[in-house]
Amino acid sequence: MPAPLPPLLTTERLRLRAWLPAADAALVRTLWSERDPRARYRIDADGHPTVAEMEARLAEQLVVTARTGLALLALERRAEGDVIGYCGLIAGQSSAEEPEIAYELLSREHGRGYATEAARAVVHAATTAGLPRLWATVRVWNAPSFRVLEKLGFHDSGRLDPDAERGDTVWMTRDLRGPAVSG
Ligand SMILES: CC(C)(COP(=O)(O)OP(=O)(O)OC[C@H]1O[C@@H](n2cnc3c(N)ncnc32)[C@H](O)[C@@H]1OP(=O)(O)O)[C@@H](O)C(=O)NCCC(=O)NCCS
Repeated sequence: MPAPLPPLLTTERLRLRAWLPAADAALVRTLWSERDPRARYRIDADGHPTVAEMEARLAEQLVVTARTGLALLALERRAEGDVIGYCGLIAGQSSAEEPEIAYELLSREHGRGYATEAARAVVHAATTAGLPRLWATVRVWNAPSFRVLEKLGFHDSGRLDPDAERGDTVWMTRDLRGPAVSG
């Protein structure tokens, strides 16, 4: 089976490319700093992870990618040349055979359809690679993420992981052997 995600995907407005740890670390740290207060991983009171620590994390992700073919890809805008977030596949709480789709964008770029555009390319690549199924784990309060997944043909699997502190996690899923989703 080919790798689930090629190192470069191109859409109308975006280039989805492998991390460049030194160049991308500050952007990813900004994403963490903007996260919802209920998110598990955030910048802590002492400022960790620092930019240098984030660079090391991105380098570690590249090692995992070399082993599994699963990757979070930087979203580079083709016209502007800047990086505005990431989208890709991770084993996460699922598995390498049926990975989770994940995405996160700078708050100033929300609502412009970028997550849907990027995630659609990732779903297409996973389908082409022959993966049978994708998952997405979403906190019940994350309406924008549910909407992105709905647009891509995901549905609620019925699995719910309770979490009174951070919000229950809904397991969304999409069978990739089903009919293609367009639009
Ligand atoms: C989830 C996220 C990536 C979406 O990015 P985005 O580029 O704004 O997404 P899109 O513009 O492609 O689509 C968002 C959709 O949600 C809708 N939406 C936004 N806020 C909403 C709300 N409060 N209630 C319902 N729908 C909402 C938008 O209207 C849009 O739908 P539409 O195209 O039908 O109008 C972005 O909100 C984000 O980075 N959030 C923080 C990280 C995160 O939660 N990641 C996912 C973890 S599971």
